[in-house]
Amino acid sequence: MKRPEALEHFLHIARDALSTRVEDGTPPGVAATRIFDALADSAGAIAPGTLAPPPAYRHLSSALERARAAPEIASLAEAFGALEPELRWRRRPGSEAHGKTFHDGHANADVVGPMGLEQRGDVLIGASLVAPGVRYVDHRHPPEEVYIVMSEGEWYREGRGWHTPGIGGIVYNPPGVVHAMRAGPEALLALWLLWAG
Ligand SMILES: [Fe+2]
Repeated sequence: MKRPEALEHFLHIARDALSTRVEDGTPPGVAATRIFDALADSAGAIAPGTLAPPPAYRHLSSALERARAAPEIASLAEAFGALEPELRWRRRPGSEAHGKTFHDGHANADVVGPMGLEQRGDVLIGASLVAPGVRYVDHRHPPEEVYIVMSEGEWYREGRGWHTPGIGGIVYNPPGVVHAMRAGPEALLALWLLWAG
């Protein structure tokens, strides 16, 4: 199966963005290799988005504009910007339990995954957008995770505390570790990649 051009281009740019930032053989490097090898082997079915996006989606265009202006992440922001209208922007499942600020203050979109534009179970790639001043809830999941950070903002990892990777930074979370992020005066935007195969 052949991928839509915007998706293929985005995946290509994301792979390049990671390979210039993480070293082969390190945990994020190994995760990225597994993910992109699987994507090169096969493509899943395509399911374009149809749902109305959550309110936080209104922050996407300004976040993308800032990312496009940052040389280290500009091509990835451009590729994601071309793809995002095809995605289903959604809330985190169960987000209403965390209060209205979080419920309306974040939006996630799945590029590849069970709910993704490209549907498959072994690779999960998507984006999280967090409105200015909003803290994304603590969460954990069995697969390890690599984030490509596309905005300013603070990041939390259990045992490490908060840090500021900056635009173009990489965040790696080992399997099962509690993690979160929070936006400062501007929206936080990041891509995430998980290997669940
Ligand atoms: Fe996560």
